[in-house]
Amino acid sequence: MAAHSTRLRYGAVTQLFHWITAILVLAAYLYGPGGSEQRVYSSAADPARQLHETLGFSVLVLVLLRLLWRTFDATPDNPPMPAWMPLMARLGHGLLYALLLAVPLSAIIGAWLEGHAVTLLGGIYINPLLAQAHDLGVTTAAIHRWLGDAILWVAGAHAAAALFHHFVLKDRVLRSMLPMPPLE
Ligand code: HEM
Ligand code: HEM
Repeated sequence: MAAHSTRLRYGAVTQLFHWITAILVLAAYLYGPGGSEQRVYSSAADPARQLHETLGFSVLVLVLLRLLWRTFDATPDNPPMPAWMPLMARLGHGLLYALLLAVPLSAIIGAWLEGHAVTLLGGIYINPLLAQAHDLGVTTAAIHRWLGDAILWVAGAHAAAALFHHFVLKDRVLRSMLPMPPLE
């Protein structure tokens, strides 16, 4: 499969970004730390929180690389469909990109404002780069939880739309994000 996208199918690089990101977002969601701030940052919760922060931080790095790659890569043509569908798809994809940035950034900003370092697996610490403003940090962390739920809902609707294209409209939209089978 070609690294670059063609007029019919997303290229290998975009497909890898897409599916690795989808798995990481789901894993980060499943390992989301809950409870009070004291509990989230207790030493007993360290390993689970570090795993969550590492998964989420990887999403941020991947989406930045993906947006960079997108500037060099074409997007496949849409199969014939009513004009409102590509418009909805563009809005949906734009919202997903916005959430892929906002979910990790709200977490990092929230943690820093609360006065906590971002702690990744392997003992990597990124100390606060913002002055402490604890109440604002608590609000930002709450927004992060809310956005973390929202991205799952939006991605779920997006996946349902992809399955609708495949099984009901029987067009190539879902196959364009899969390596197989050949498309013409
Ligand atoms: C796409 C990436 C991410 C997703 C989907 C996500 C999702 C979530 C969800 C759903 C919760 C709430 C869990 C619950 O209430 O049971 C949560 C909490 C949390 N997340 Fe994330 N998260 C992501 C990235 C990050 C990153 C990069 C960090 C690094 C700082 C992080 C740090 C936290 C922390 C510290 C909490 C607890 C919030 C609090 O203090 O109340 N998350 N996350
Ligand atoms: C957290 C999970 C997911 C996220 C964040 C996500 C995000 C995205 C984004 C941002 C795009 C736009 C790509 C671009 O043009 O730059 C896209 C395209 C696509 N996604 Fe997902 N996706 C997720 C899960 C899924 C799942 C589970 C499926 C299949 C069931 C799927 C199927 C597709 C398809 C077929 C396209 C191409 C759509 C088109 O060209 O109109 N995605 N996805």
